[in-house]
Amino acid sequence: MAIHGGSGTINRTEITPEEESAFRVGLEAALNAGYAVLKQGGSALDAVEQAVRSLEDNERFNAGKGAVFSASGRHELDASIMCGQTLNAGAVAGVTNVRNPISLARAVMEQSENVFLLGSGAEDFARDQKLPIEPDEYFFTELRYQQLAEAQQANKTQKTQLDHSKRNTGKGTVGAVALDQHGNLAAATSTGGLTNKKYGRVGDTPVIGAGTYANNETCAVSCTGYGEFFIRSVVAYDISCLMAYKGLSLKEACAYVVQDKLNVMGGEGGLIAVDRAGNVELPFNSEGMYRAWRNQMGQGEVAIFA
Ligand code: GLY
Repeated sequence: MAIHGGSGTINRTEITPEEESAFRVGLEAALNAGYAVLKQGGSALDAVEQAVRSLEDNERFNAGKGAVFSASGRHELDASIMCGQTLNAGAVAGVTNVRNPISLARAVMEQSENVFLLGSGAEDFARDQKLPIEPDEYFFTELRYQQLAEAQQANKTQKTQLDHSKRNTGKGTVGAVALDQHGNLAAATSTGGLTNKKYGRVGDTPVIGAGTYANNETCAVSCTGYGEFFIRSVVAYDISCLMAYKGLSLKEACAYVVQDKLNVMGGEGGLIAVDRAGNVELPFNSEGMYRAWRNQMGQGEVAIFA
Protein backbone atom coordinates (compact mmCIF):
# COMPACT_ATOMS: atom_id res chain seq x y z
CA MET A 1 0.00 0.00 0.00
CA ALA A 2 1.13 3.56 -0.64
CA ILE A 3 -0.34 6.95 0.21
CA HIS A 4 0.47 10.57 -0.64
CA GLY A 5 -0.42 13.89 0.93
CA GLY A 6 0.49 16.17 -1.96
CA SER A 7 3.55 17.39 -3.83
CA GLY A 8 5.17 20.75 -4.50
CA THR A 9 7.80 23.13 -3.19
CA ILE A 10 8.39 21.18 -0.04
CA ASN A 11 11.89 21.58 1.42
CA ARG A 12 13.46 21.84 4.82
CA THR A 13 13.50 25.65 4.74
CA GLU A 14 9.73 25.81 4.17
CA ILE A 15 8.50 23.77 7.11
CA THR A 16 9.53 23.76 10.76
CA PRO A 17 10.63 20.55 12.50
CA GLU A 18 7.31 20.62 14.40
CA GLU A 19 5.35 20.82 11.15
CA GLU A 20 7.44 18.07 9.60
CA SER A 21 6.76 15.87 12.58
CA ALA A 22 3.01 16.56 12.40
CA PHE A 23 2.95 15.69 8.68
CA ARG A 24 4.80 12.45 9.38
CA VAL A 25 2.33 11.53 12.14
CA GLY A 26 -0.59 12.25 9.78
CA LEU A 27 0.90 10.14 7.00
CA GLU A 28 1.65 7.27 9.38
CA ALA A 29 -1.90 7.37 10.77
CA ALA A 30 -3.42 7.25 7.29
CA LEU A 31 -1.14 4.41 6.21
CA ASN A 32 -1.99 2.48 9.37
CA ALA A 33 -5.72 2.98 8.76
CA GLY A 34 -5.48 1.45 5.29
CA TYR A 35 -2.91 -1.20 6.12
CA ALA A 36 -5.01 -2.51 9.02
CA VAL A 37 -7.81 -3.26 6.56
CA LEU A 38 -5.44 -5.20 4.30
CA LYS A 39 -3.87 -7.10 7.17
CA GLN A 40 -7.29 -8.30 8.31
CA GLY A 41 -7.97 -9.64 4.81
CA GLY A 42 -10.14 -6.68 3.81
CA SER A 43 -10.48 -5.25 0.34
CA ALA A 44 -8.14 -2.83 -1.40
CA LEU A 45 -11.18 -0.63 -1.96
CA ASP A 46 -11.88 -0.38 1.78
CA ALA A 47 -8.18 0.20 2.47
CA VAL A 48 -7.81 3.15 0.09
CA GLU A 49 -11.07 4.69 1.28
CA GLN A 50 -10.02 4.46 4.94
CA ALA A 51 -6.56 5.90 4.25
CA VAL A 52 -7.97 8.84 2.29
CA ARG A 53 -10.65 9.50 4.91
CA SER A 54 -7.89 9.78 7.50
CA LEU A 55 -6.09 12.37 5.36
CA GLU A 56 -9.35 14.22 4.66
CA ASP A 57 -10.00 14.47 8.41
CA ASN A 58 -6.48 15.85 9.05
CA GLU A 59 -6.46 19.63 8.56
CA ARG A 60 -2.79 19.66 7.48
CA PHE A 61 -3.66 18.17 4.11
CA ASN A 62 -5.50 19.81 1.23
CA ALA A 63 -8.59 17.61 1.21
CA GLY A 64 -11.74 17.54 3.33
CA LYS A 65 -11.09 19.51 6.55
CA GLY A 66 -8.24 21.93 5.87
CA ALA A 67 -8.82 22.08 2.11
CA VAL A 68 -7.84 25.29 0.31
CA PHE A 69 -10.32 28.10 -0.32
CA SER A 70 -11.73 28.81 -3.76
CA ALA A 71 -12.05 32.43 -4.98
CA SER A 72 -15.60 32.57 -3.62
CA GLY A 73 -14.37 31.70 -0.14
CA ARG A 74 -15.77 28.18 -0.20
CA HIS A 75 -14.20 24.73 -0.13
CA GLU A 76 -14.98 23.06 -3.45
CA LEU A 77 -13.90 19.46 -3.09
CA ASP A 78 -13.06 16.83 -5.72
CA ALA A 79 -12.54 13.07 -5.26
CA SER A 80 -12.54 9.78 -7.13
CA ILE A 81 -12.12 6.07 -6.47
CA MET A 82 -11.65 3.06 -8.73
CA CYS A 83 -11.81 -0.71 -8.29
CA GLY A 84 -9.22 -2.65 -10.31
CA GLN A 85 -11.21 -5.88 -10.22
CA THR A 86 -14.44 -4.58 -11.76
CA LEU A 87 -13.17 -1.36 -13.38
CA ASN A 88 -16.05 0.36 -11.60
CA ALA A 89 -15.38 3.96 -10.64
CA GLY A 90 -17.01 6.88 -8.85
CA ALA A 91 -16.15 10.58 -8.80
CA VAL A 92 -17.44 13.91 -7.52
CA ALA A 93 -16.33 17.47 -8.32
CA GLY A 94 -16.99 20.86 -6.78
CA VAL A 95 -18.87 19.57 -3.75
CA THR A 96 -19.15 21.68 -0.61
CA ASN A 97 -19.88 20.69 2.98
CA VAL A 98 -19.45 16.94 2.44
CA ARG A 99 -17.20 15.74 5.25
CA ASN A 100 -15.55 12.90 3.32
CA PRO A 101 -15.74 13.38 -0.46
CA ILE A 102 -13.97 10.04 -1.01
CA SER A 103 -16.89 8.21 0.61
CA LEU A 104 -19.27 10.16 -1.59
CA ALA A 105 -17.25 9.08 -4.64
CA ARG A 106 -17.53 5.49 -3.47
CA ALA A 107 -21.28 5.88 -2.98
CA VAL A 108 -21.54 7.20 -6.55
CA MET A 109 -19.70 4.07 -7.70
CA GLU A 110 -21.76 1.62 -5.70
CA GLN A 111 -25.16 3.24 -5.12
CA SER A 112 -25.82 5.16 -8.33
CA GLU A 113 -26.00 4.31 -12.02
CA ASN A 114 -23.42 6.98 -12.77
CA VAL A 115 -19.69 7.54 -12.54
CA PHE A 116 -19.32 11.31 -12.10
CA LEU A 117 -21.57 13.72 -10.15
CA LEU A 118 -21.06 17.46 -9.88
CA GLY A 119 -21.76 20.29 -7.41
CA SER A 120 -25.18 20.66 -5.86
CA GLY A 121 -26.47 17.46 -7.46
CA ALA A 122 -23.66 15.50 -5.85
CA GLU A 123 -24.47 17.19 -2.52
CA ASP A 124 -28.13 16.15 -2.85
CA PHE A 125 -26.94 12.60 -3.49
CA ALA A 126 -24.73 12.78 -0.37
CA ARG A 127 -27.77 13.78 1.69
CA ASP A 128 -29.84 10.99 0.16
CA GLN A 129 -27.07 8.56 1.09
CA LYS A 130 -27.06 9.98 4.67
CA LEU A 131 -23.35 10.85 4.46
CA PRO A 132 -22.10 13.36 7.06
CA ILE A 133 -22.57 17.02 6.06
CA GLU A 134 -20.63 19.74 7.88
CA PRO A 135 -21.07 23.53 8.14
CA ASP A 136 -18.56 25.80 6.33
CA GLU A 137 -16.74 26.45 9.63
CA TYR A 138 -15.70 22.79 9.85
CA PHE A 139 -13.48 23.21 6.79
CA PHE A 140 -11.95 26.56 7.87
CA THR A 141 -8.27 26.81 8.78
CA GLU A 142 -6.36 30.02 9.36
CA LEU A 143 -3.43 28.90 7.19
CA ARG A 144 -5.64 28.28 4.15
CA TYR A 145 -7.43 31.60 4.74
CA GLN A 146 -4.09 33.41 4.71
CA GLN A 147 -3.11 31.59 1.52
CA LEU A 148 -6.32 32.80 -0.12
CA ALA A 149 -5.65 36.38 0.97
CA GLU A 150 -2.08 36.20 -0.36
CA ALA A 151 -3.20 34.69 -3.67
CA GLN A 152 -5.88 37.35 -4.15
CA GLN A 153 -3.43 40.11 -3.30
CA ALA A 154 -0.87 38.66 -5.74
CA ASN A 155 -3.51 38.51 -8.48
CA LYS A 156 -4.37 42.18 -7.91
CA THR A 157 -0.78 43.32 -8.15
CA GLN A 158 0.14 41.00 -11.04
CA LYS A 159 -3.14 41.72 -12.88
CA THR A 160 -3.40 38.09 -13.88
CA GLN A 161 -5.95 35.41 -13.17
CA LEU A 162 -3.55 32.58 -13.87
CA ASP A 163 -1.05 32.46 -11.09
CA HIS A 164 1.26 29.54 -11.74
CA SER A 165 3.39 30.24 -8.68
CA LYS A 166 4.11 27.18 -6.64
CA ARG A 167 2.92 28.94 -3.50
CA ASN A 168 -0.56 29.05 -5.00
CA THR A 169 -0.97 25.34 -5.52
CA GLY A 170 -2.01 24.62 -1.97
CA LYS A 171 0.59 21.83 -1.97
CA GLY A 172 -2.15 19.36 -1.78
CA THR A 173 -4.20 16.44 -2.88
CA VAL A 174 -4.20 13.19 -1.00
CA GLY A 175 -4.41 9.66 -2.29
CA ALA A 176 -3.94 5.96 -1.72
CA VAL A 177 -3.30 2.81 -3.76
CA ALA A 178 -3.48 -0.76 -2.49
CA LEU A 179 -3.19 -4.42 -3.42
CA ASP A 180 -5.17 -6.78 -1.18
CA GLN A 181 -4.72 -10.45 -0.28
CA HIS A 182 -7.24 -11.42 -2.96
CA GLY A 183 -5.11 -9.86 -5.71
CA ASN A 184 -7.37 -6.86 -6.19
CA LEU A 185 -6.06 -3.33 -6.79
CA ALA A 186 -7.75 -0.01 -5.94
CA ALA A 187 -6.92 3.70 -6.09
CA ALA A 188 -8.47 6.76 -4.44
CA THR A 189 -7.70 10.50 -4.62
CA SER A 190 -9.19 13.58 -2.94
CA THR A 191 -8.42 17.32 -3.01
CA GLY A 192 -9.52 20.89 -2.46
CA GLY A 193 -7.74 21.77 -5.71
CA LEU A 194 -5.96 25.11 -6.13
CA THR A 195 -6.18 28.07 -3.78
CA ASN A 196 -8.31 30.87 -5.27
CA LYS A 197 -9.62 28.66 -8.08
CA LYS A 198 -12.55 30.16 -9.93
CA TYR A 199 -15.12 29.55 -12.68
CA GLY A 200 -15.76 26.01 -11.41
CA ARG A 201 -12.18 24.94 -12.08
CA VAL A 202 -11.68 21.17 -11.68
CA GLY A 203 -8.28 19.45 -11.76
CA ASP A 204 -7.21 15.90 -12.42
CA THR A 205 -8.22 14.41 -9.06
CA PRO A 206 -11.82 13.42 -9.93
CA VAL A 207 -11.04 12.62 -13.56
CA ILE A 208 -10.80 8.84 -13.95
CA GLY A 209 -7.70 8.06 -16.00
CA ALA A 210 -6.02 11.38 -15.19
CA GLY A 211 -5.73 11.57 -11.39
CA THR A 212 -6.93 8.06 -10.51
CA TYR A 213 -6.92 4.67 -12.22
CA ALA A 214 -6.91 1.00 -11.21
CA ASN A 215 -6.92 -2.20 -13.24
CA ASN A 216 -6.09 -5.66 -11.84
CA GLU A 217 -4.27 -6.46 -15.11
CA THR A 218 -1.73 -3.68 -14.55
CA CYS A 219 -1.64 -1.25 -11.61
CA ALA A 220 -3.39 1.26 -9.37
CA VAL A 221 -2.34 4.94 -9.58
CA SER A 222 -3.15 8.13 -7.63
CA CYS A 223 -1.66 11.46 -8.75
CA THR A 224 -0.76 14.79 -7.15
CA GLY A 225 0.41 17.94 -8.87
CA TYR A 226 -0.64 20.64 -11.28
CA GLY A 227 -3.94 19.13 -12.41
CA GLU A 228 -4.20 20.76 -15.82
CA PHE A 229 -1.02 18.97 -16.95
CA PHE A 230 -2.14 15.67 -15.46
CA ILE A 231 -5.45 15.87 -17.33
CA ARG A 232 -3.75 16.68 -20.64
CA SER A 233 -1.30 13.79 -20.12
CA VAL A 234 -3.99 11.35 -18.91
CA VAL A 235 -1.29 10.32 -16.46
CA ALA A 236 -2.82 7.47 -14.45
CA TYR A 237 -4.22 5.64 -17.49
CA ASP A 238 -1.03 6.30 -19.45
CA ILE A 239 0.95 4.32 -16.90
CA SER A 240 -1.50 1.42 -17.08
CA CYS A 241 -1.44 1.53 -20.89
CA LEU A 242 2.37 1.49 -21.07
CA MET A 243 2.29 -1.66 -18.97
CA ALA A 244 -0.58 -3.30 -20.87
CA TYR A 245 0.34 -2.40 -24.45
CA LYS A 246 4.12 -2.02 -24.36
CA GLY A 247 5.00 -4.45 -21.59
CA LEU A 248 6.82 -1.86 -19.49
CA SER A 249 7.34 -2.58 -15.80
CA LEU A 250 5.66 -0.30 -13.28
CA LYS A 251 9.01 1.34 -12.58
CA GLU A 252 9.71 1.99 -16.27
CA ALA A 253 6.22 3.31 -16.95
CA CYS A 254 6.29 5.66 -13.93
CA ALA A 255 9.77 6.98 -14.77
CA TYR A 256 8.83 7.66 -18.39
CA VAL A 257 5.55 9.44 -17.60
CA VAL A 258 6.75 11.52 -14.63
CA GLN A 259 10.38 12.28 -15.50
CA ASP A 260 10.11 12.47 -19.31
CA LYS A 261 6.59 13.26 -20.53
CA LEU A 262 5.40 15.49 -17.67
CA ASN A 263 8.74 17.25 -17.35
CA VAL A 264 8.77 18.15 -21.05
CA MET A 265 5.29 19.68 -20.70
CA GLY A 266 6.26 21.51 -17.51
CA GLY A 267 3.85 19.54 -15.37
CA GLU A 268 5.04 19.50 -11.78
CA GLY A 269 3.93 16.77 -9.41
CA GLY A 270 4.09 13.08 -8.74
CA LEU A 271 2.12 9.93 -8.13
CA ILE A 272 1.95 6.72 -6.17
CA ALA A 273 1.41 3.36 -7.84
CA VAL A 274 1.28 -0.34 -7.02
CA ASP A 275 1.19 -3.20 -9.51
CA ARG A 276 -0.45 -6.61 -9.29
CA ALA A 277 2.76 -8.14 -7.91
CA GLY A 278 2.86 -5.61 -5.08
CA ASN A 279 5.70 -3.47 -6.45
CA VAL A 280 5.37 0.13 -5.29
CA GLU A 281 6.56 3.31 -7.04
CA LEU A 282 6.39 6.87 -5.69
CA PRO A 283 7.99 9.10 -8.39
CA PHE A 284 7.79 12.91 -8.42
CA ASN A 285 9.49 15.75 -10.27
CA SER A 286 8.71 18.43 -7.67
CA GLU A 287 10.92 19.33 -4.72
CA GLY A 288 9.05 17.03 -2.41
CA MET A 289 6.02 14.84 -1.97
CA TYR A 290 4.37 13.79 1.28
CA ARG A 291 4.35 10.03 0.96
CA ALA A 292 4.43 6.68 2.73
CA TRP A 293 4.32 3.02 1.79
CA ARG A 294 4.40 -0.42 3.39
CA ASN A 295 4.62 -3.86 1.79
CA GLN A 296 3.29 -7.26 2.86
CA MET A 297 6.40 -7.88 4.97
CA GLY A 298 5.78 -4.69 6.93
CA GLN A 299 8.74 -2.89 5.30
CA GLY A 300 8.24 0.70 4.21
CA GLU A 301 8.90 4.34 4.97
CA VAL A 302 7.37 7.76 5.55
CA ALA A 303 9.09 10.51 3.55
CA ILE A 304 8.61 14.14 2.53
CA PHE A 305 11.67 15.56 0.80
CA ALA A 306 13.41 14.46 -2.38
N1 GLY B 1 -3.96 17.78 -8.53
C1 GLY B 1 -5.04 18.44 -7.96
C2 GLY B 1 -5.53 19.58 -8.72
O1 GLY B 1 -4.85 20.10 -9.59
O2 GLY B 1 -6.64 20.02 -8.44
